[in-house]
Amino acid sequence: MAQLGHSVIAVDSDAAKVESLSRGVAPLFEPGLDDLLAEVLPTGRLRFTTDYAQACDADVHFICVGTPQRKGENAADTTYVFAAAESLAPYLTAKALVVGKSTVPVGTAAKLRDHLQQGAPEGVQARLAWNPEFLREGFAIQDTVAPNRFVYGVDGPTADADVALLDEVYSGPLTSGMPRLVCDFPTAELVKVAANAFLATKISFINAMAEVCEAAGADVVLLADALGHDDRIGRKFLNAGVGFGGGCLPKDIRAFMARACELGADEALEFLREIDAINRRRRSRMVDLAREECGGTLIGKRVAVLGAAFKPDSDDIRDSPALDIAQAARSEGALVTVFDPKARESAQRAFPELAYADSIEEACQRADVVLHLTEWRQFREIDPAKLAVVLANPTIIDGRNTLDPVLWRSAGWSYRALGRPPV
Ligand SMILES: NC(=O)c1ccc[n+]([C@@H]2O[C@H](COP(=O)([O-])OP(=O)(O)OC[C@H]3O[C@@H](n4cnc5c(N)ncnc54)[C@H](O)[C@@H]3O)[C@@H](O)[C@H]2O)c1
Repeated sequence: MAQLGHSVIAVDSDAAKVESLSRGVAPLFEPGLDDLLAEVLPTGRLRFTTDYAQACDADVHFICVGTPQRKGENAADTTYVFAAAESLAPYLTAKALVVGKSTVPVGTAAKLRDHLQQGAPEGVQARLAWNPEFLREGFAIQDTVAPNRFVYGVDGPTADADVALLDEVYSGPLTSGMPRLVCDFPTAELVKVAANAFLATKISFINAMAEVCEAAGADVVLLADALGHDDRIGRKFLNAGVGFGGGCLPKDIRAFMARACELGADEALEFLREIDAINRRRRSRMVDLAREECGGTLIGKRVAVLGAAFKPDSDDIRDSPALDIAQAARSEGALVTVFDPKARESAQRAFPELAYADSIEEACQRADVVLHLTEWRQFREIDPAKLAVVLANPTIIDGRNTLDPVLWRSAGWSYRALGRPPV
């Protein structure tokens, strides 16, 4: 937003994050973010604080706080959204528009506007719009500066003025022809969860095909290539492997099911339960293959895990398939060593019981089996012949189907992959 020319004050309740960002150090890894901070901080257009009072002059307040899965339930925990609104409400002015960006259960916006109204200064009409966020970690800057569409959910007497204000905020990307859709609150809230449900379904569809391929001796990668040429289907998100993870897809499809149930529409989303189950089964399948390659037991076996982040170009380890599989192998008695180019620190904080290496070679030293679990470019660029020398019987299981089986096999590796026939 500051790069687009706006004057921005970012409020976070986490003082350590505010302190780090104020020094120009991003508290997470996102390609280009440190450079962008270095470019923008000297302009004075971006400041960080823990104090909501400092946001009192803003024309637009974006609420982007987390909506994690509630402990022990499928539903989303919206307490952070309501807490942020409560802290903000006393500083609202008649001109200020609050804009929800967090991914929330449908129906939240209407409740939130009432909540804002209750806390707003006397005589101030609370204004709220819903503008779901579609950025992808690893592409966050590009997706923010040039998103592929804007959705504005608006409601009430100020709706036209709210649209005009959001158009001003996004005038840069809008003038380059970005599509912008205006709708009601519930549709805007649903767009995001529906998009995530579709993406999760596409991934689990190809992973279900991988299960069938394994049973039938077929090759899921060739199958996906052949399917993908049909432009009604498309090749994107048809990569069979250990499935999806992260802070969005898993919790969003679960929260969507929980909300549909509250609305009496549970049957409509019953299929998402299976999507989630297929996704989890791929993680267990990976552990099964590792055990098989280790002669039927993982007890005392050395397992090298390549990847800890839930996806490449991120250090986000929330619901990471890689760490889930690493933990499962460890709980079966394996000695697991993890290497990740960026997520080591966050992984070590969350899973101190696993061993961590500083390089691919160190992780693979004397390993009985290597598991490729996050599709970092660095792993695709491994020279399998060079790496083979640190193992007695070089064996790799490609959980992402992004390594070249011909290359690895010709370098002396036993190569297996999810959904592809063993040789
Ligand atoms: N991460 C993504 O790729 C992505 C993409 C699209 C949408 N979303 C949605 O955006 C929202 C945020 O996701 P995230 O991954 O950035 O979450 P996150 O947990 O990484 O970050 C949330 C931030 O909000 C802060 N916070 C919590 N309560 C606060 C309060 N009351 N006042 C001020 N700050 C507070 C936390 O300290 C934290 O820094 C979620 O609803 C998520 O579903 C995320």
